[in-house]
Amino acid sequence: MITSLQKLEKEMLSALEKAQDIHQLEEIRIKYLGRKGMLTAILKGLKNLSDEEKRVVGQLANKIRDEIERKIEKKSTGMKNSLLEKSLQENWIDLTVPGKKYNIGHIHPLSQMQEKVEHIFGQMGFAVMDGPEIESEYYNFEGLNIPEHHPARDMQDTFFIEKNRDPKFGRLVLRTHTSPVQVRTMEKYGAPLRIIVPGRVFRYEATDASHDTTFYQVEGLMIDKDISIASLKGVMNEFLSRLFDQKINLRFRPGYFPFVEPGMELDLGCLFCEGQGCRVCKHTGWMEFMGAGMVHPNVLRLGGIDPEKFQGWAFGFGLTRLTMLKFGINDIRLLTSGDLRFLEQF
Ligand code: DAH
Repeated sequence: MITSLQKLEKEMLSALEKAQDIHQLEEIRIKYLGRKGMLTAILKGLKNLSDEEKRVVGQLANKIRDEIERKIEKKSTGMKNSLLEKSLQENWIDLTVPGKKYNIGHIHPLSQMQEKVEHIFGQMGFAVMDGPEIESEYYNFEGLNIPEHHPARDMQDTFFIEKNRDPKFGRLVLRTHTSPVQVRTMEKYGAPLRIIVPGRVFRYEATDASHDTTFYQVEGLMIDKDISIASLKGVMNEFLSRLFDQKINLRFRPGYFPFVEPGMELDLGCLFCEGQGCRVCKHTGWMEFMGAGMVHPNVLRLGGIDPEKFQGWAFGFGLTRLTMLKFGINDIRLLTSGDLRFLEQF
């Protein structure tokens, strides 16, 4: 028994010696020490021996098992370490190299402003409408009481993008203002209405620090049975004070727009000098802000609304200009330049 144990020990030691990798080590462990392993079988057979033999053989068998287990463990740790070593050498990573910097984008200042405007008007019960940027002459002009050859057309330099003239809708143009959406919304939903229309508009003009061929406006329209300029003043007061987080002075003065009667312009008390007079307000204490007025009966009629039953006001202001005011931007062209050095400031 003892000699066969010693033989087994030798066999195991030489097998261990030859083992090349962790898998072979595992095979050896199973072959000798596993549940059905050869050494295990001997240990199981002990019960048939006399007490004296049990003691001697048992001790030796346990000693051999411990020794082999330890050797397997030691060799496998060594193998694992050298594997790790090897892979570290092959796939070496310098953990001290600074990581890649990802630039996280953010909302464009114009969109930030648009979201604010929509939020404040939304809380006052205004729905947000949209309309096509490529518009027909009809909606851009005639539908707003600006007939062909009317001098008011010259107020807005237009990009015509089609020569063919549809008998009712005329040529296609890049809309010069958001006002056409007034007519479209009236046609579609009728009265009463309480909407704003933020959107992109286009003018054929030479660019400079305060003019661009593309900019953004916000149109407003409120139509109901008993609407007056007083409610326009109230709405604008609320809107502007909330937007600028301060009390804003407003004044109306007469202004001409063919789609309103009476027409007016709304000025803001200068935000920079609080009405004292400065460079920004050209020392008047006031800044022009928007056109507005009571919707012309012709426009209501063209929109399918009976001016005898309903009335309302409309306004249009420059979202781009408002953004420039709010953020103190002095060149309109920066807003569409895509220049990150500029955009990252907001
Ligand atoms: N559409 C005009 C423009 O672009 C602005 C405007 C003036 C809009 C008066 C209105 C309004 O709704 O009532 O110059």
